[in-house]
Amino acid sequence: MHLKPLTLQKRSVGEVVSLYATDVPSATVWLEQSLPYGLTTIIPLVLTPVFLHHFYDLSLSFSLSLVLALVILNSIMAYRQSIFFFRFKILAADRMGLVNEWIQNIRGLKILNWIEGFENKIIKKRREETVNRIHMLTNGQVMNTISSSIMFVLNLAMLGFFIWFYDKSFSKADIISLLWVTTVFLSRPLRQLPWFFTFVFDAWTSFKRLADFLNLENQAEVVKSCARTNESHILEIKNLNLQIAGRELLKNINVDISGGEMIALIGPVGSGKSLLVKSIINETPYTADVFYKEKTSYLSQEHFIMSASLRDNMNFYYQSPPEYDEKIMQHLSQAQFNFELDRVENGLETVIGERGLNLSGGQKQRVSLARQLMEPNQLLILDDPLSAVDISTEKKMIDEFTKFKDRGCSVLLTTQRFTALPHCSRIIFLNNGVIEYDGPSSSFLMNPNYDSFLRGLV
Ligand SMILES: Nc1ncnc2c1ncn2[C@@H]1O[C@H](COP(=O)(O)OP(=O)(O)OP(=O)(O)O)[C@@H](O)[C@H]1O
Ligand SMILES: [Mg+2]
Repeated sequence: MHLKPLTLQKRSVGEVVSLYATDVPSATVWLEQSLPYGLTTIIPLVLTPVFLHHFYDLSLSFSLSLVLALVILNSIMAYRQSIFFFRFKILAADRMGLVNEWIQNIRGLKILNWIEGFENKIIKKRREETVNRIHMLTNGQVMNTISSSIMFVLNLAMLGFFIWFYDKSFSKADIISLLWVTTVFLSRPLRQLPWFFTFVFDAWTSFKRLADFLNLENQAEVVKSCARTNESHILEIKNLNLQIAGRELLKNINVDISGGEMIALIGPVGSGKSLLVKSIINETPYTADVFYKEKTSYLSQEHFIMSASLRDNMNFYYQSPPEYDEKIMQHLSQAQFNFELDRVENGLETVIGERGLNLSGGQKQRVSLARQLMEPNQLLILDDPLSAVDISTEKKMIDEFTKFKDRGCSVLLTTQRFTALPHCSRIIFLNNGVIEYDGPSSSFLMNPNYDSFLRGLV
């Protein structure tokens, strides 16, 4: 449920999947591998110069500088490697996002003849990923080669230094213990050093990406007080603001709704109607001083139909009892879904959606509405339920909504239909994210200021 507000922050599904599939392992691998790696790497690296100083009188600053130089060289290579790792995650997220969009919209893309273009976009991403992977492998191999050969070079240099340039005579035992120190003791740390740093950098970027993501979630629902100030209100909102990506989309919204009201929420296209109702059901990262609501039923402007039987689209119970069918039929008819007119031949068994009968926009809208009517709550929020129905169906649907109102529930109806307005006793007019009018519909309809807006309605 918490992913919804995040989609409003321009986070694609691909990015979420990539965080889960790549960043979580990167961040945890640090604990199980990098920490023990770190200890077995750093301890010998520090002990060796101390040992050489103690037993062979080698200058401590000289040997420590040598170790430091090795550490710097390896961290540069590791940093480069972790950039490739980072790019790998970003590119994978982009590609997964594209593939997800492609799968979800394949039918629409086919109709638009855009399949090839879309596939080319995915292939292009794949190509970028492959190039990045080649860089990653090449850099990794260079790192491995340097880290395994540096030990050999270091041994030769050490031996040469001590045997030819150091003015002390060495016994065989001295040379063997020297070889042991610079070969056996240092071989593992020097091999591990670049990968240790790579894991450190990688874990760091992953932690950062995960933290950014989790902080986003914390932005949602910043409500200062939940208490309602008026007991008769079933919805009470004070000073609600919504900002997404720096854009102020809803500004200082105050709405009170009591039981038994039928309210039209209207406004120009893009004025923020859907965002306001989505905020009411907690699906946006809004902030508010007061936010109180009773249980709400919500019909989205985008309709959701599964590839399943009509019955399963209406309720998700396995083997629901026969009397449930009666209830479903009743609510389908309330939503003006007519089996004969809508040409649904196998009744509730008819499979609809992707792999069955493909419903028209209006049919989907009415099935979605019927679903919401099954278990109605105190407040019924309907986002544009009339956009795809004819005038006579509209009339019947409004009659059904009025019945809800008469039962004491409240209906908040978003619409572009002029004919629906006289049926609502109250109008909330939203313009550019601000409520410009909230009051009786009669005064709104007679106000000449709103003439041009009203004339633009269907
Ligand atoms: N997820 C989002 N992220 C950023 N901006 C958004 C998002 N959803 C909507 N908007 C912007 O917010 C504004 C209001 O959108 P909204 O969907 O609420 O309009 P609306 O009044 O419902 O329009 P319509 O009558 O077409 O349904 C638009 O300018 C839109 O571009
Ligand atoms: Mg809308």
